Amino acid sequence: MARAYNFSAGPAVLPLEVLKDAQADLVDYKGCGMSVMEMSHRGKDYDAIHQEAIATFKELCGLGDDWAVCFIQGGASLQFGMIPMNFLGAGMTADYVNSGTWGNKAIKEAKKVAALRNANVNIVADCQKDIPTRQPTEFNWSENAAYAHLCTNETISGAELKTIPDVKVPLIGDMSSDILSCERDYGKFSMFYAGAQKNLGPSGMAVVAIRKDFAEKGPESLPTMLQYRTFVNDNSLYNTPPTWGIYVFGETMKWVKKMGKENLFKLNAEKAGRIYDVIDSSDFWTGTAVKEFRSNMNVTWRIKNGDEALEKKFIEEAKAAGLSSLKGHRSVGGIRASIYNAFPMEGIDALVSFMKDFEAKNG
Ligand SMILES: Cc1ncc(COP(=O)(O)O)c(C=O)c1O
Repeated sequence: MARAYNFSAGPAVLPLEVLKDAQADLVDYKGCGMSVMEMSHRGKDYDAIHQEAIATFKELCGLGDDWAVCFIQGGASLQFGMIPMNFLGAGMTADYVNSGTWGNKAIKEAKKVAALRNANVNIVADCQKDIPTRQPTEFNWSENAAYAHLCTNETISGAELKTIPDVKVPLIGDMSSDILSCERDYGKFSMFYAGAQKNLGPSGMAVVAIRKDFAEKGPESLPTMLQYRTFVNDNSLYNTPPTWGIYVFGETMKWVKKMGKENLFKLNAEKAGRIYDVIDSSDFWTGTAVKEFRSNMNVTWRIKNGDEALEKKFIEEAKAAGLSSLKGHRSVGGIRASIYNAFPMEGIDALVSFMKDFEAKNG
């Protein structure tokens, strides 16, 4: 079996152990005589999978009974629209941090809803255009916002919010690319969410953690599937949920628990640190994020300050050497190594030695 070292930003590498277990379960899930994909979402076998997945995730994030965990299709992108639809009522203001591409996408959707309802979107900080990229340190919060929204890790630019700011209103976090990758006080939030396809499981849904009382604030006039309360009240079983994705998510959460989350957090810092050390070792490489905001999940850099021909060569030769998907996002170019929880240390060492070798030949 030849598995590439997969640096894709998402869908991304999953733990090999989880994939192998899923393979073993694929045709006959633990003697049920059918795959998880084929069983009723109302049956007891699936129900056990569903409940355990939620319970393990809640345990890992330290969430109590006042929280619900929902599986919502449409990815993190649907959340950008669902959040203002539920919480930005007529005449209200919502605070948004623009930390980069994803922060800005959330803002665009909020503005659409605000325009329909004569509500306001207040940009409390804007560093989307900053190069090197960063997360803001100063925020211009409004007095009585309905909620505040931020993105804890900008996947494209590789800038991560290291400290969650104290906010007086309900805080909502897009944690698509750094959920469960480092120590976070999830209790600071009223809601946080992530497209599953990076640190949580396969693509096809967002995992949304929301305080039950906060979910109740949404208008009941919204279509049923656009209200958080539907997912909370029916435990994401109002309609047919993405059962296979939830099963793999649950297995991935069990893997995180088995590995020990603190252990994984330490490994994540170590893995990113090894790549940043090479980047900092010579002028051949340039990190694209301000040091104090460097992401441990998405390491971004350039060669010779943006020599595109050399970067192309690097990406192609790396691919041939089994280091896959190192191309930076199409909107910014450069190089990006996405190294989520499941990315193995051996892959980091392979990249580091490839970088050193490439510099020796092309420097
Ligand atoms: C930080 C962040 N937010 C939102 C999204 C959008 O996620 P989805 O593709 O699940 O809609 C992404 C996707 O890469 C992301 O990285």
